[in-house]
This record gives sequence, structure tokens and C-alpha cells, in this order.
Amino acid sequence: MTHSWNNGENRQPRRILITGGAGFIGSNFVHHWCESYGGDRVVVLDALTYAGNRQTLAQLEGRENFRFVQGDICDRAAVDSLLQEEAIDTVAHFAAESHVDRSILGPGAFVQTNVVGTFTLLEAFRQHWNGKGQPSDYRFLHVSTDEVYGSLGPDDPAFTETTPYAPNSPYSASKAGSDHLARAYFHTYKVPTIITNCSNNYGPYHFPEKLIPLMCINMLLGKPLPVYGDGQNVRDWLYVRDHCSALDVVIHRGEPGETYNVGGNNEVKNIDLVRMLCKLMDEMATELPVRPCEELITFVKDRPGHDRRYAIDATKIKTELGWTPSVTVEEGLRRTVEWFLTHEDWWKPLLSEEYQAYYNQVYV
Ligand code: NAD
Ligand code: DAU
Repeated sequence: MTHSWNNGENRQPRRILITGGAGFIGSNFVHHWCESYGGDRVVVLDALTYAGNRQTLAQLEGRENFRFVQGDICDRAAVDSLLQEEAIDTVAHFAAESHVDRSILGPGAFVQTNVVGTFTLLEAFRQHWNGKGQPSDYRFLHVSTDEVYGSLGPDDPAFTETTPYAPNSPYSASKAGSDHLARAYFHTYKVPTIITNCSNNYGPYHFPEKLIPLMCINMLLGKPLPVYGDGQNVRDWLYVRDHCSALDVVIHRGEPGETYNVGGNNEVKNIDLVRMLCKLMDEMATELPVRPCEELITFVKDRPGHDRRYAIDATKIKTELGWTPSVTVEEGLRRTVEWFLTHEDWWKPLLSEEYQAYYNQVYV
């Protein structure tokens, strides 16, 4: 189901630049935006790293008011000309290196894209916004993560917007750096930035390296299901289209300079989540190399510095902007298993030699 939050008659069409729009959340957001606001100009800027997939946007490519540009957010000249020639008034910034395990293997790309790339975009947008006379309806949405708040104990209260930052991985440290820059650009220059910090997303177009798609795909291939450590780590799970509806409401109704936490109200231990997926796959797949799937669960070496628990207090976005998630974890996982069962043509080509080499490094 699509939610649109400001489709009223008074809404002015926007000209939106979506960075990282060929990745997991970005592509879901592009689809959400095109379905909700058909009159808007939608421009995607994506470098098509290993995580970007143009196929995900294929059905939009022919549309008159849609444009895909392959490019790097660190390329200032390219960003400048795109903002200018497309007369962009809204940036939704998703482009990032996003996988914690990869940040442990090679942190440099994370600093480059997440910190330097965000800085480059902010500088370009500041100049563009100034050049247009600082219009009050321009927005720069910086999409970030709950991981910047660090790790919770079992009885700690959930993260709020005022929880001090305590990032623990190179990934979360680089996201924290980018959040600080987005915040500073509002405070110092009044650039209309808004930050969102969200919990774990899942759903269609999720790259195979992340927990849920990895488990679904390994079940379908009859491969071990690698659970890190004791499997007792807790994550809060948010169906990706619910995240998109939250970002929509933030763009339309959020206050510049503010931060909004976005969560699913679905805290689950990893091992319980994997067991739920196994049961769904046993029920929904007609053919499986190994059944029941639980026989494939294998406890493996823990992730270095593995955060124990994340939990989001999403009271602010609920009370101030009227957003709540609509999909329960049971329903969202069912939809996701169904999606992986019916989209082998999407995920199979991603299991490339390069991906296998990465896999062999992490799962030694
Ligand atoms: P992803 O890895 O699936 O996609 C990232 C996209 O950015 C890819 O299409 C990639 O090609 C593109 N990209 C990478 N470097 C680029 C560069 N230098 N220039 C232009 N494009 C580049 O990531 P995702 O899971 O969709 O996450 C999107 C954003 O949401 C990230 O900022 C991430 O930190 C944040 N986030 C993710 C989650 C989650 O659960 N996945 C939760 C909270 C926040
Ligand atoms: O919390 C938001 C974050 O969620 C986002 O900012 C990140 O971009 C996104 O990748 C995600 O980070 P996590 O590290 O929480 O997600 P991941 O899917 O990698 O892992 C989820 C949990 O499952 C985590 O506790 C590690 C564990 N895990 C993961 C993998 C890939 C396993 O036990 N086995 C695995 O093979």
C-alpha cells in the first residue's frame, strides 16, 4: 500500500533529487514518490556501486518526468550542474556505504562517501539555495541511522532524538560525522536540512549481504544460515515502505533543523527473527533443498564490536507529524519472503564472483 501525506490540492509540485536511488531504501523511496506524486520531477543520482542496481528502476526509465544520472556525490561539479539544470528544490539523500561488515573490512570508502560525499552535497546545495534567494520551501533530507546512538543494554530506554551519539563501527562513525555536518549547516547557514535516524529496514530490493535477504537466499539455495555470536542481539525492524512514508511526511511537514527518529516498534532477537523466516519459508516455498530450514542454522564467529541492542523511541514523529508504522513484523516478513520467492531474476545475478569473494572474507 502506498501512503502519501500531502497530496492535497494546494501542494506545489516538487523537483526532487534522490541520491542513492538505485540502492535498497532509495529505490523503494523513488517508487513511493513516483506513485504518490506523479506530477513531480524526479532525478536520481547514483554511482552504481556494488549495491546499486539500475534494473530496480527499469519500469520508470521511460517516464517523461524521471531521469537517472550515474554519478558520484563526491563530484562537486556534477552535483552543481545537476542542481542547477534541474532546478532542484528538494534533496533526499540516501547515497552511502551502508554495510557494517564491509566497513570493518575497509573503512576508507565509508569516510569518503558518507562524510566527504555528504559534505560535497551540502556545500553544493547551500550555494544553489543561496543563489535562488534562500527559498523557504527548499529541503535537504539527510537519511541516517539509529546506529549513531551506539548500543543499548537489555533494560535501557530506547533511543530518542536527544540520546548522545556513541557510534561503534566505522560505518556508524561515518554516518555520525555526516549527521553532524547536516546539523551544522542548518545551525550556521540556515540551510533547511532535516535529519532522520531510522532502525533496520527490510523488504523488496534488499541487497543479499544484509541479514534478512541473506537468510532468505541461503534457504532457497540450501546453504548454512550464519548467525553471529549467540544470536541474542536485538534489532528493531521497519518495513521499508513504512520508512518511505515517514520520509514523505518529514519532507512535507518536518521542521528544518530538526531530527526525527523512525522505528517499527518491532524489537526482535536475531535468532528469533531467523526462526520466523525459517517457518515462513517452510510454509511458503514449494521446493527447498533442505526442509525444515531451521536445520541450516549455524552459529558463527561474532562481528567485531557487534552492537547488542538497538531500539527507537518514535514518539516525536508520531506526536508532531502524525506518522506511525503500518506493517507488523509478521506481515512484513511474509511479504518479504514472498518477494524473494518470486524475484529470483532480481537477486540471482547479484551473487557475482565479487560478492562471493566478499562472502568468503566475512564467513571464514
Ligand atoms: P544501499 O547500500 O542499499 O544503497 C546505497 C546506494 O548508494 C547504492 O545505490 C549505491 O550505488 C549508492 N552510492 C554509494 N556510494 C555512492 C556515491 N559515492 N555516489 C552516489 N551514489 C552512491 O543502502 P540502503 O540500505 O538503501 O541505505 C540508504 C541510506 O539509508 C543510507 O544512508 C543508510 O545509512 C541509511 N539507513 C539504512 C538502513 C537500513 O536498514 N538499510 C537503516 C537506517 C538508515
Ligand atoms: O540499524 C540500522 C542499520 O541497520 C543501518 O544503518 C545499516 O545500513 C543496515 O545495514 C543495518 O545494520 P545492521 O548491522 O543491524 O544490519 P545487518 O543486516 O547487517 O545485521 C542485522 C543483525 O544480524 C546484526 O545484529 C548482525 C546480524 N547478522 C547479520 C548478518 C549479515 C548475523 O547474525 N548474520 C549475518 O550473516
